[in-house]
Amino acid sequence: MKFTNNYKEKIREIVKDKNLTYYIDTMGCSMNENDSSKYSGILESMGFKKEFDEKKANLILFNTCCIRENAENTLFGRLGSLKKEKINNEDKYIVIVGCMTQQKHIIDKIKTSYKFVDIVLGTGAMSIFPLKLYNVLKNKKTDIEYIDVTNEVEEDIPIKYDDKFRASVSIIYGCNNFCSYCIVPYVRGRERSRKKEDILNDIKRLAKNGYKEVMLLGQNVNSYGNDFKDINYNFPKLLQDIEKIDGIEIIRFMSPHPKDFSDELIEVIKNSKKIARQIHLPLQSGSTRILKEMNRRHTKEDYLKIVEKLKSIDDNISISTDIIVGFPGETDEDFKETLDVVKKVKFDQIYMFIYSKRVGTRAEKMEDNTSNNEKVKRLEKIKEVYEKYLPDNNKKMIGKVYKVLVEGKSKNNENLYTGRTSQNKVVIFEGNEEVVGKIVNVKIISQHLWYLKGKIEV
Ligand code: 5AD
Ligand code: SF4
Repeated sequence: MKFTNNYKEKIREIVKDKNLTYYIDTMGCSMNENDSSKYSGILESMGFKKEFDEKKANLILFNTCCIRENAENTLFGRLGSLKKEKINNEDKYIVIVGCMTQQKHIIDKIKTSYKFVDIVLGTGAMSIFPLKLYNVLKNKKTDIEYIDVTNEVEEDIPIKYDDKFRASVSIIYGCNNFCSYCIVPYVRGRERSRKKEDILNDIKRLAKNGYKEVMLLGQNVNSYGNDFKDINYNFPKLLQDIEKIDGIEIIRFMSPHPKDFSDELIEVIKNSKKIARQIHLPLQSGSTRILKEMNRRHTKEDYLKIVEKLKSIDDNISISTDIIVGFPGETDEDFKETLDVVKKVKFDQIYMFIYSKRVGTRAEKMEDNTSNNEKVKRLEKIKEVYEKYLPDNNKKMIGKVYKVLVEGKSKNNENLYTGRTSQNKVVIFEGNEEVVGKIVNVKIISQHLWYLKGKIEV
């Protein structure tokens, strides 16, 4: 479905007249960040100016997440603190989009306790945003009704990235996996892959505009193409086509599912000069028994096998992961299995979470006898193990030269510049404005747990 905006000019006039600004608060994952870039693109195409101070902005758009309970609480806290200002300022508009809006009980809560919200919009429904916005700006007609997940693929949406050299590109929307703890399939709908031409054209355009790195996004990127009926085209083939695009030097993707990590994909990674030597491979649990309860459809051994194959391509490949502790019924023994995988794989980055019960998922009904205290202890234990071996991972890089895309000045030290290696390790080094946006060779000098220090080699 092509994105068309029949209200662009009409809204433009109002925005110009009132000099309206916007501020986007993005919660959650990279998919949401990508959606927020699209909302920025749509709003700027209608004349809205970006405002960095939320208090001064006329339109505040909350792009919400519901993956865990604390993400939900964040929204309600923020809305509560905005109420007074919203009621006293007739040119203050509040828009809520993203995953939370696809849950009926959330919409009910907004309708009863946060009536001052102007617009609620579901996922995959950007095409109706201009109409809703026009109704609010012109007629003060608010709309916070629940709409079912649309399962649409919307193309040609204007997009405005904050970054000048790295951009994310969605390749597949939705998820069919129904991991038992996860709300995503309910709020993002079924898997639908974008047409390869649309993706490749987007990336060619990015390359033309000076972008060097792309991050391909999807809840399950390696399901890409499974829904194509008339062509035989999949994720490894897409990667090979992106590899051919001049100007793009680094390709990343997030997240693949271990159950779909084929040998064909490993072969493509091996032969690629552009695919980053960093793979994000969600583990969730190291216990085969818990993985089964989670409906992950792979075992601990399957996971370790993929890691072994990836490390045989390049022993300097970095593996990052997601781990959930405290899934209903997780015993000490199960947790030890997770720790065992952490010790064996020596992940370079671990996003760790305490299990959070989600309404409507299969795990919601599972008995959970582990105390929160115990869950926190398990989380701390993973952290402890991780921080113990991480310096050794980093030390292996000392003395070697890596290609680094220079992002700009370091936030902590005005005199230094920063960028990431292919392994996604942050490096700081001396440089000048000329190297920003370029790929330079950096020799690693020392490691400091969360970052490395290096020196540009000429
Ligand atoms: N509780 C805790 N963590 C969760 N995740 C997904 N659902 C839940 C939940 N109910 C984590 C998974 C996933 C990451 C994006 O969020 O680890 O990979
Ligand atoms: Fe959620 Fe599993 Fe789909 Fe990932 S693969 S979005 S964890 S259901």
